[in-house]
Amino acid sequence: LIGYLNGKFDDLERLHISPLDRGFLFADGVYEVWMCYDGRRFADEQHWQRLKASLAGISLPFPNLQGCRSILDQLVERNAQQKGTAGIYLQITRGVAPRKHAFPEATSPTLFAYSFPFQRPREALASGVSVHLIAEMRWTRCDIKSIALLGNVLAKEQAKGHGAFEALFVREGHVVEGTHSNLFAVRRGALWTHPLGPFILGGITRAHVLQLARSAGMDVREQALTVEELFQADEVFLTGTTTELMPVIQVEDRSIGDGRPGAITRELQRLFWKSTAFPPPLEFNELP
Ligand code: PDD
Repeated sequence: LIGYLNGKFDDLERLHISPLDRGFLFADGVYEVWMCYDGRRFADEQHWQRLKASLAGISLPFPNLQGCRSILDQLVERNAQQKGTAGIYLQITRGVAPRKHAFPEATSPTLFAYSFPFQRPREALASGVSVHLIAEMRWTRCDIKSIALLGNVLAKEQAKGHGAFEALFVREGHVVEGTHSNLFAVRRGALWTHPLGPFILGGITRAHVLQLARSAGMDVREQALTVEELFQADEVFLTGTTTELMPVIQVEDRSIGDGRPGAITRELQRLFWKSTAFPPPLEFNELP
């Protein structure tokens, strides 16, 4: 695979960063992930806006973000990914400097990007998944898309150990989000999701689904759910760039609804795929 690092395109194995890069030493950096379908990045502008906000969140000036667009175009082209789905990863760190906590002076940022083949989770999108609950152990700036993801990594590994697709973080009795996805629930006909703020990442997919739901006339509440309310929800689903709109049919050992993806979830999936132009998974069309 071809990647990009500080002005140079090359095979990923031939791109090297310094061990003194602050991304490596301090996780001092931010990132974005795009989904690219048939050569077109979904919600491109929203991702650039969020990257800008993340950079501002860590006080890392980056003069020409606009110029980075063509890097992503070129990656998809060089990796021959103009057909079907590809993921694109872009990371900016504060650059290389002797290891001191405070910001270095006059250091230029490190920019790394690559595009990767991506298999959509088709079966899971059709049948739904189970999730595992875990006590929040991250910081209080989850709105910044920071590369410091150890809490997310440990939680996801724990979910995997339980045979679950995703771990959901619980902060002071409320379910906030997953390790790489946002959470939605349907309760008494209304659609609930955690409000924006420091405890969740403002997901691009979350915002898109909220807009679809509001346009469809649904009753939407950006309000946190307790664990008990989640267990009792009629429907639950996750959203994310690589997760798309994923039905949740089980939380821990308890079934949600009748243990199958619910009607509102199905309707939002339909609206989501229609608006993104991602083809619905085959299995979806074959469902009874
Ligand atoms: N996940 N919350 C967290 C902690 C995330 O890492 C992500 C993104 C989301 C969903 O955000 P979005 O809809 O903008 O992807 C929520 C990675 C990038 C993913 O889905 O691949």
